[in-house]
Amino acid sequence: MTQPGLEGKHMTQKTFAAFAFAFGCLAALTGVARAEDAAGDAALGEKVFNKCRPCHMIGETAKNSVGPVLNGVIGRKAGIYEGYNYSEANKGSGLTWDEATFREYIHAPQAKVKGTKMVFAGITNDTDVSNLIAYLKSYDAAGKKTP
Ligand code: HEC
Repeated sequence: MTQPGLEGKHMTQKTFAAFAFAFGCLAALTGVARAEDAAGDAALGEKVFNKCRPCHMIGETAKNSVGPVLNGVIGRKAGIYEGYNYSEANKGSGLTWDEATFREYIHAPQAKVKGTKMVFAGITNDTDVSNLIAYLKSYDAAGKKTP
């Protein structure tokens, strides 16, 4: 003897469980996507880097040009890339380009390092800067793509 009422309730619980599972997965996926946002997107950062290309090179064959090579620049001390003729302002800044310092600098280079010869207005959009940082970090100090 089946009791339609009970069977119906049983199905509802199953359906509910399935929905709960689906929502759980969605929430987890959204969480991952958000974490990536915060860390920046290197592919989008490559487009931001087009603003730097007139003066900076990056990658295994990069050479100093108007500005120094930017391989491994995040975490690098200011003014130390070999063979580049830095301004006294940059060399004597005592800065290390950790993410927070780089962020301030690229927001307004001439405000952060008074007298720098980097003539660049700056990038004010925080998402653009996060993506740019992710792109810069995708190269190691030798200009190799990091895995
Ligand atoms: C018009 C040319 C120009 C543009 C555009 C430019 N830079 Fe520069 N950059 C320079 C010059 C020149 C220096 C050397 C500054 C000095 O010695 O005072 C420099 C220095 C730097 C430094 C310090 C490096 C070190 O070794 O201390 C960083 C970091 C940097 N630039 C990042 C960037 C990024 C990222 C962009 C793009 C968003 C950019 N720059 C755009 C010319 C430029």
